[in-house]
Amino acid sequence: MKKNQSSIIILGLETSCDETAVAVVEARDENIRVLSSVVSSQAKLHAKWGGVVPNLAAREHLKNIIPVLELGLKEAQVKPVNIDLITVTQGPGLIPALLIGVNAAKTLAYVWEKPLLGIHHIEGHIYANFINKVREISNSRFLISKQTSSPNNPNIKIKFPVLCLVVSGGHTQLVLMKKHLDYEIVGETLDDAAGEAFDKVARILDLGYPGGPIVSKMASENKNKMPEIKINLPRPMINSANLNFSFSGLKTAVLYETKKYQNSTSVIKKAESWKNFVNKMCHEFQQAAIDVLIAKTLKAAKIYQPKTIMLAGGVAANQELRQQLGDKIKKEFSKALYLIPEISYSIDNAAMIGAAAAFRWKNMSASQKKKALANWKTLQPDANLKLS
Ligand code: KG4
Ligand code: ZN
Repeated sequence: MKKNQSSIIILGLETSCDETAVAVVEARDENIRVLSSVVSSQAKLHAKWGGVVPNLAAREHLKNIIPVLELGLKEAQVKPVNIDLITVTQGPGLIPALLIGVNAAKTLAYVWEKPLLGIHHIEGHIYANFINKVREISNSRFLISKQTSSPNNPNIKIKFPVLCLVVSGGHTQLVLMKKHLDYEIVGETLDDAAGEAFDKVARILDLGYPGGPIVSKMASENKNKMPEIKINLPRPMINSANLNFSFSGLKTAVLYETKKYQNSTSVIKKAESWKNFVNKMCHEFQQAAIDVLIAKTLKAAKIYQPKTIMLAGGVAANQELRQQLGDKIKKEFSKALYLIPEISYSIDNAAMIGAAAAFRWKNMSASQKKKALANWKTLQPDANLKLS
């Protein structure tokens, strides 16, 4: 296999929570092309417990990491000799889970004598927006691609400042980027993360784990039956002067309204009416969360006048949020570019870690790159790693 001087091949690993993920990406300047992205989800296993059990997650990662790695390399048609850089999620996340990915990456870097970079999980989510899914790099070694479509126009050059709404299971933040790899958190949640609120609401309504996809599905099935039941949930902090969020009161309001419905004797408790109630509740909860997320993003946009507005994190997979935020930006910030990652790169994956590593690598001096060859000796997971 001939080596193209201007492109690099990056192997990425991600095990911070309940997805074992491996990806191979090809980076050429600012073009990031995914050659493979394999994700093995443990969601079903953790569903029984209503959330992720760290030690169980670690055992599953240990079982899956080698098969997922083998598949990732096979799908990308890449051999160890073709790999220029290995990267792994360093944190934040669950330590037992992170340890498996970090240890695997360190071992590969040592055995294959490759540079190694630890990446912040949220930096990965943000850089999922920089993945170029369709543009074929003309003199690439990898012209065969299964990827055929993209919501992002591959010819668009992302302009700074960038404002990114990060919404995942552990984070809800408004991040301002004046340039690549430069992050200022201008707003964040004071309690629960948006994804956590979706998960908790799903638990209250007995819908299983993870909550986001099922709550949004139930919301979309709301036919507004049972007009006798009115559900009006609060939009916490929607009018507060700052750019922060709070979702814990919203979740409590869902709990309170659900108890009220369950204890009420005025409604006929047929299976059908419970289903209608759940649809209605999910719809109202999702809209309340979206209203607050959009209001604060627009407020931040008014202050910082970004040229690009992005969504990132698992909750960015939510169709209503994608659509409604896009509509509002079109109306109120028509000059700003609105970017959303592909659904498969919104939820946890390793391609996003590879994408972030590509930009980090590009920014490093020759001596820093050389030093990265010894990172297999020192890299440690950090549960509370800060975005910087
Ligand atoms: O980024 P992610 O995959 O993992 C973390 O870094 O936390 O995000 C997972 C979160 C979960 O809370 C899940 O319920 C939520 O993203 N999520 C969604 C949707 N898909 C996943 N929330 C709302 N709507 C969705 N479609
Ligand atoms: Zn994530």
